[in-house]
Amino acid sequence: MTKIIFIDPDGNEQIVDAENGLSLLEVAHNNDIDLEGACEGSLACSTCHIIVEKGFFEKLPEPSEEEEDMLDLAFGLTHTSRLGCQIIIDDKLEGMKVKIPSGTRNISVE
Ligand code: FES
Repeated sequence: MTKIIFIDPDGNEQIVDAENGLSLLEVAHNNDIDLEGACEGSLACSTCHIIVEKGFFEKLPEPSEEEEDMLDLAFGLTHTSRLGCQIIIDDKLEGMKVKIPSGTRNISVE
């Protein structure tokens, strides 16, 4: 288990025990955290957009080109933005803080 700290758009923190091997999106859903994930991880939306704490952002594997393309469409993109469905939990991410942005743009259903 790896501890992940989610920060909601109002700044409230929620610490969860995440199972290694699951995606951040799955972890959010297992813990009733409000992260949409409209396409369920098939890189066809950007509603799982999250903002990663800088120190941890650098530890994550590089995003794929498909992820970059989807991120370009995300609302409120930052330098440490990623798609939650593409981040796989492992021990290196212990204590990582991820912020849920206040808005999403769901291009898959527009
Ligand atoms: S859930 Fe759609 S891209 Fe992550």
